[in-house]
Amino acid sequence: MQKEKVLVTSALPYANGHIHLGHLSGAYLPADIYVRYKRLKGDDVLYVCGSDEHGVPITITADKENVKPKEIIDRYHNANTEAFKKFGMSFDIYSRTSKPVHHDDAKTFFLSFHNQGLLNEKKTLQFYDEKANMFLPDRYVEGTCPNCGNEDARSDECENCGALYDPSELLNPKSKITGETPVRKETTHWFFPLGKYQERLEAYIDEMNSKYGWKDNVLQYCKSWFKEGLKDRAVTRDLDWGVRVPLENSEGKVLYVWFEAVLGYISATRDLSEQRMEPDLWKDYWQNPKTKYVAFIGKDNVVFHTIIFPAMLMAWNDGNDEKFVLPQNVPANEFLNFESKKFSKSRGWGIDAKDFLNLFPADPLRYYLAANAPENKDSDFYWKEFQSRNNDELADILGNFVNRTFIFGEKHFESKVPELINPTEIDLRMLERITEYPAKVGALLEKYKVKDAVLEMMNFTRSCNKYFNDSEPWKSVKTNKEQCGTTINICLQAIYTLAELFSPVIPNTTVKLFNMLNARPTDWYNSGNPTLAAGHELNKPEILFAKIDDEKIEEQTTKLEEEKLPPVEDPKISFDDFTKIDLRVGEILEVEKIPKSKKLIKLKVDLGDSQKQILAGVALSYTAEELLGKKVVVVSNLQPAKLMGIESEGMIIAADKKDGGVQILEVSAEIPSGTKVK
Ligand code: 2FM
Ligand code: ZN
Repeated sequence: MQKEKVLVTSALPYANGHIHLGHLSGAYLPADIYVRYKRLKGDDVLYVCGSDEHGVPITITADKENVKPKEIIDRYHNANTEAFKKFGMSFDIYSRTSKPVHHDDAKTFFLSFHNQGLLNEKKTLQFYDEKANMFLPDRYVEGTCPNCGNEDARSDECENCGALYDPSELLNPKSKITGETPVRKETTHWFFPLGKYQERLEAYIDEMNSKYGWKDNVLQYCKSWFKEGLKDRAVTRDLDWGVRVPLENSEGKVLYVWFEAVLGYISATRDLSEQRMEPDLWKDYWQNPKTKYVAFIGKDNVVFHTIIFPAMLMAWNDGNDEKFVLPQNVPANEFLNFESKKFSKSRGWGIDAKDFLNLFPADPLRYYLAANAPENKDSDFYWKEFQSRNNDELADILGNFVNRTFIFGEKHFESKVPELINPTEIDLRMLERITEYPAKVGALLEKYKVKDAVLEMMNFTRSCNKYFNDSEPWKSVKTNKEQCGTTINICLQAIYTLAELFSPVIPNTTVKLFNMLNARPTDWYNSGNPTLAAGHELNKPEILFAKIDDEKIEEQTTKLEEEKLPPVEDPKISFDDFTKIDLRVGEILEVEKIPKSKKLIKLKVDLGDSQKQILAGVALSYTAEELLGKKVVVVSNLQPAKLMGIESEGMIIAADKKDGGVQILEVSAEIPSGTKVK
């Protein structure tokens, strides 16, 4: 089979926050699986990524914390490098765009366009904060929406009504830095003539799609951009954080972050060349017409990778002898949501990769995210599903098959591969399947269908278990040892193939598997041929997957329930506000455990003239018996709310204790239920 030269990139994440599971499932895990598969196939692969360290999102984070952007990017670059490593990402390099090599490359591209006379210099009006002495990027200005009157509208878009408008139409604009009304001031910027490339871009995408099959979602995005008509785009900004515009009289101007970030793929590869002291390495991929370049991204990045970056590469290639390759495919994924809602840093909804990987190993997460990849539509991460994918599939199907085969080998065949003698019909059928699967799974991975590939891997594992069951080696070992040996031989060959097939998805586990088999991975397409000779010695088996118990999952889901409660905001309230709270003495009449919760317990409380159902977070500190009959203080006019699907009509007053428990505020028994507390 012909070996390919493959260059793979994953979107460079902004170094202004932690990588979360949504990021992993969109642009990183699918690329890593593809890359690992291609390497096993023997292709010549380079996988490049790094931090995107410029742009307004980073300066906003720095401003919020009152620190320099450098502090932010160092913090998150280091944290994300670590998280990716723990997750098992096999980048050849994880670089960063603050490096001089990147600044050099970005400036070289800009100057090439400038010297070719491509860039249009235009004067525009931009918001300027006279107090802060700076031009304000769009995200630094807020005001009233000219369409619906929403007072928190962005400078060019209203989240309330969805209107898009010119920043000059925004009513009552305010600088987010000083709160002052900004003025509109003239400034000069350089524009890239994107429209000039429209025809060529359409032809390029058509050609790539017809040859290599682009995803529908990606084609749809491109079509709508083309329909709208491509326009000139400013490639510079008034900002003091970023790659300086390499021209005279351009004080205070940097290259637009998206203009330089996509070039970060190239500079990261140059960075690798320098590190490996192979100066031409980067050219051998980027400027080699044989290279197959695949750019993995999330759906929000499509236009930059299918239109803007290719147009920039075309512009470079027009004016220079050394020609760059364009993406052959851009397999963008949709989004992963978290328990039915969007990941949101500001609302604290979701889980960061680093926190997750402190709780659970990487492989079950990789398996779940791959099996549930948002390839054609958004998908969801659910804690319960994560648990069942681990317990019911990895442990019970894959782990179990491997375990029972090894135990048999150890017990009855001295941990050596038995001979394959006189295979029966079902043996032959199983051998055929072993041979078929690498090609079947490989064909799906070639098309970036990671989800289907993982499904097939598990189907194959199921069929292995079925073969074991149908062959009944526990019987044949007593009646026909040769036949039993044949069964175990075939199961071991199947495990070898499974180890290879699962390698891209659960690489830590398959290292263990190969070690148990006392064998090494081979060329992917060879892995379906019976590889283990009779008499080959096996190593001791180990447990591949630990089951995840309900409690550990519950800890996470309970946290979610707590996070759903509205945050307590300003602690100061007026006296009037206080008198609105109706506090009453109540007696606990009934106590009922809530099966899925450790903290919450269901109470029926008597308030004299009424009874209320209250869910209280006291189950860790009190038993049901202790609670029964207690006189407590109840917030009786609380808006009812549902917790874990159960209605709660009030609240019990309690104090937090140091050990994480609570102490209920008790009232003496002689005070009648319903008495007002002031
Ligand atoms: O969306 C993002 O996180 C961007 N930082 C992606 C950049 S991809 C490429 F251009 F570097
Ligand atoms: Zn509006």
